[in-house]
Amino acid sequence: MPKPLQAGRRAARRPAELDGEVARAETYPPPYPAGWYVVARAADVTNRPRFVRCAGQDVAVFRGAEGRPHVVDAYCPHMGANLADGVVRDGCIECPFHAWRIAGDGRIRSVTDGAPARPGLRTTSWAVDDLHGWVCMYHRHGPLHREAAPEPPYRLQRVPEIDGGALLHRGDYDAGGVRMHLLEFVENSVDFQHFDAIHDQLRVPWTNVPVPGIRLQHRAGWHVDESEPHVAWFRDDVELLVRGRVIPGAGADARIRIEGPGGVVRFDFDLRGRGRVVLFQSHTPIAPLRQRIRFRWFSERRVPKLLASYVVGNWISQWRRDIGIWERKIYRRKPLLLETDGPVGQLRRWYSQFLPDAPAERETAEARTV
Ligand SMILES: [Fe+2]
Repeated sequence: MPKPLQAGRRAARRPAELDGEVARAETYPPPYPAGWYVVARAADVTNRPRFVRCAGQDVAVFRGAEGRPHVVDAYCPHMGANLADGVVRDGCIECPFHAWRIAGDGRIRSVTDGAPARPGLRTTSWAVDDLHGWVCMYHRHGPLHREAAPEPPYRLQRVPEIDGGALLHRGDYDAGGVRMHLLEFVENSVDFQHFDAIHDQLRVPWTNVPVPGIRLQHRAGWHVDESEPHVAWFRDDVELLVRGRVIPGAGADARIRIEGPGGVVRFDFDLRGRGRVVLFQSHTPIAPLRQRIRFRWFSERRVPKLLASYVVGNWISQWRRDIGIWERKIYRRKPLLLETDGPVGQLRRWYSQFLPDAPAERETAEARTV
């Protein structure tokens, strides 16, 4: 007779590296704050359903009859088949198992053999928005009953100049997965001291190769938006220096809008008379310590595509410097901060609004200054 599997023996066979990642994840706040997350590029959402893992949920993303994207529970409420393996018919997603048809708002239209469903039957759905070519869902806390998605507390802010055509789409970059917690990106914005530590050197755009002799000087700031409590702003004005002297006209000023817990971040680069570049960076948490990261950027017509790519590539080079830190670090609930460190405690209090309500989970670090 086969022996039943023992949890302890399974755990013993788990690779040490995975144990380390589990322990590392446990130092952090909960991994899936409430907020908007990108689930796909709009161009990739068609009448062929897509399976996406986002914020602890497995969802099916598809485009309904009227052309709007929808997000519903990936698993059929009937017998659990994966709806993303089905097809879209009559604007509904049709289950590959018993052909139940489910509308984008989660309502079940018909059941086995095409019989009409009893009114009120539904599966879980999520609020969806299109943000300049990205399909986003609003992840909410609480038990997910089979119910219609409630209206989210806020919508992602659009850029009127993109809608109006003054800013043109210039590029996309899918950076794949990074083994980091979602919080790290946002926390980085208040860590003013690390700019001089790891972002002080100009790099060849899109690479880690330093450009000899050119240093970067940052002036940074951070504040919570007074009229939109879910928004924080980060400012980074950068000068290029050769032998300690500023190169005139070479720097740029960036205003960075952090929407909620950082699922979507918008960079507005002012090239000081040479034009404007708007870059979106998205983090989709697919596991506690794994983010899927995408970039999408726009610029004024007078900014050549190559210059826009140079500006974005400069940012990517600096962002890659942080990844090496993020993928190996833990979260210090009580960091030993210096007077010169940025407002880490303020950021963590602000961020806690997106975390689940359980008191233990809402605990934010009270920073100690030494
Ligand atoms: Fe950084």
